[in-house]
Amino acid sequence: MTTVDLPLLPLGRGKDLDAERGVECPGDLPAASDPDLVARATAAKAALGSRVFVLGHHYQRDEVIQFADVTGDSFKLARDAAARPDAEFIVFCGVHFMAESADILTAPEQKVILPDLAAGCSMADMARLAQVEDAWAALTEAGVADQVVPVTYMNSSADIKAFCGKHDGAVCTSSNADVALEWAFAQKPDAKVLFLPDQHLGRNTAVLQMGIALDECVVWDPRQPNGGLTVEQLRDAKMILWKGHCSVHGRFSPDVIDELRAKVPDLNVLVHPECQHEVVLKADLVGSTEFIIKQIEKAPAGSSWAIGTELNLVKRLADAHPELNIMFLDRNVCYCSTMNRIDLPHLVWTLESLVNGEVPNVIEVDPDTEHWAKVALDRMLALPGKSHKD
Ligand code: 13P
Ligand code: SF4
Repeated sequence: MTTVDLPLLPLGRGKDLDAERGVECPGDLPAASDPDLVARATAAKAALGSRVFVLGHHYQRDEVIQFADVTGDSFKLARDAAARPDAEFIVFCGVHFMAESADILTAPEQKVILPDLAAGCSMADMARLAQVEDAWAALTEAGVADQVVPVTYMNSSADIKAFCGKHDGAVCTSSNADVALEWAFAQKPDAKVLFLPDQHLGRNTAVLQMGIALDECVVWDPRQPNGGLTVEQLRDAKMILWKGHCSVHGRFSPDVIDELRAKVPDLNVLVHPECQHEVVLKADLVGSTEFIIKQIEKAPAGSSWAIGTELNLVKRLADAHPELNIMFLDRNVCYCSTMNRIDLPHLVWTLESLVNGEVPNVIEVDPDTEHWAKVALDRMLALPGKSHKD
């Protein structure tokens, strides 16, 4: 088995260019206390005009979101970027895998920029290509690889998407995981799915939307020999779930739901499918960030909502909807620390660099990876119905 180094780098200080945790920012950043930051960002953006297009993921800070030309989830933003072929610079206020997807879906001459290279994703980091290749070799050895269709969540690095493209698999998002699984199971007789890298989205979709039994889902632990599974377990499984999770959504727990329900009458619990299965089982509604926003937008005045997703988004929804009683589904503050790396000083530095003719922090996927990742992304785009939904 290949040994995979997974150095636990202090955020933003490592030098591993392949890590989703990213590297040091090379910029001479303005001080966060500079009272002119808003004016500077406004002026730089105006000077760049239509040459720049700023994308803001829903989990970004308000100070950044105010400068976004569009907001959305990871897939919507990648498509929004692709729909702006006239923009020379796509400034992606999100995390590394999102900027990679935008690079894959935009024209070669367009530059996709991540304002802080340390804005990675711990979940995407949990599936490295060498580990997935090892797993595939073990599945081949067990005699099941021919039945396996790999499906990766959008929240994965470009080389994992490319692996899925090369092995007749596809990408999915949290809003179309069920359609992608349906597609995958129809690809081969007795098909099995290797679901990367989020075990929770894989399990929640398989069990709650596809009717697959919990004991037909096994977890592949890349740190254990043979993933910690016997050949029989691999042969019997329908879903082989990669042992990865989101460090933000993984925090929500079922006991907080019980506690809140005891205190708040008629509480609606609304969570993201990256949450643990036990949390999703106790929730009233489960869906992607775009789904969560839509539910809140149509909620009747006076209704109560406990929301299990990233705190920047929950706070923004609570501010925008004073007519609702919105609460956060965790006792503690729960931001995505890597999303939060992108702040106003980084955005000002990025925009002012562009005005000065420098193009910082360009995210460029190599041509071979890009080709195969696009194969997997295009398979998702070709899926019926919900695949075009956000
Ligand atoms: P979406 O943006 O697809 O909703 O995923 C949630 C998330 O965790 C983003 O990092
Ligand atoms: Fe990754 Fe979770 Fe942060 Fe999204 S919220 S970027 S999945 S760690």
